[in-house]
Amino acid sequence: MTNSESAASAVVEPLGDEVVAVDNVTAGYLPGVNILNACSLVARQGELIGIIGPNGAGKSTLLKSIFGLVKVREGQIRLNGEEITNLKANKLVAKGVGFVPQTNNVFPSLTIQENLEMGMFQKPKGLKDRLEFVTEIFPELGKRLGQRAGSLSGGERQMVAMSRALMMGPHVLLLDEPSAGLSPVRQDEAFLRVKEINRAGVTTIMVEQNARRCLQICDRGYVLDQGRDAYTGTGRDLLNDPKVIGLYLGTLGQD
Ligand SMILES: Nc1ncnc2c1ncn2[C@@H]1O[C@H](COP(=O)(O)OP(=O)(O)OP(=O)(O)O)[C@@H](O)[C@H]1O
Ligand SMILES: [Mg+2]
Repeated sequence: MTNSESAASAVVEPLGDEVVAVDNVTAGYLPGVNILNACSLVARQGELIGIIGPNGAGKSTLLKSIFGLVKVREGQIRLNGEEITNLKANKLVAKGVGFVPQTNNVFPSLTIQENLEMGMFQKPKGLKDRLEFVTEIFPELGKRLGQRAGSLSGGERQMVAMSRALMMGPHVLLLDEPSAGLSPVRQDEAFLRVKEINRAGVTTIMVEQNARRCLQICDRGYVLDQGRDAYTGTGRDLLNDPKVIGLYLGTLGQD
């Protein structure tokens, strides 16, 4: 496709509906200390959104703010056009939002199966179907349903956590560093799973430390810096943006 053809198709291509909208959000943990500073982000129907940025930029805080775990002080968050600012996590789960936190995301003393069943506590009907769906995406878990989650590696726990979030059949998935602590081969695998989940129709917002890989697979990305959305664009645009490379991707962006 030539540049002019792609520009033309970009003009006529309708944008999907906004599923998640974070509108100038300010949020923090301690009184008087804002971690997010007028931060904005949009995820449209079916998009895979990547969030990258330096340690401490507020990436996890942004996901927690969407999921009602950090108090939003100013600004607004919407889900399918409905305001959900500071709505509690259990209400958000009931509205179809799943969240996989960065750490402590499984119940170590429970088996894999019990962890997955915990994910269905609000919706016990359809357990069998959901279990089938997630063990198709994560077949290695399906074979070890009776094993205690505490005996799994970090990467395997991340898979259990992702599967648990999928048990409710969410239409939005918030993922905090799904590839953390994995070997390069396992990281690729984790990204493939995320892509597969997204292709099944789940609008996905993924925070990633592995910035280059994240931008390669996401539809659009956001670079967070000091609590603000410093840069946004398609994954490809960000990967090729000299400022983003220089500041956030280092030499990794150049190969
Ligand atoms: N529970 C908390 N109480 C107080 N401050 C916190 C808390 N959690 C995070 N912070 C602070 O908020 C800032 C942003 O943290 P956050 O975890 O959102 O960063 P991040 O971009 O996810 O970083 P990383 O890449 O290391 O995961 C940091 O300065 C951190 O110290
Ligand atoms: Mg984090």
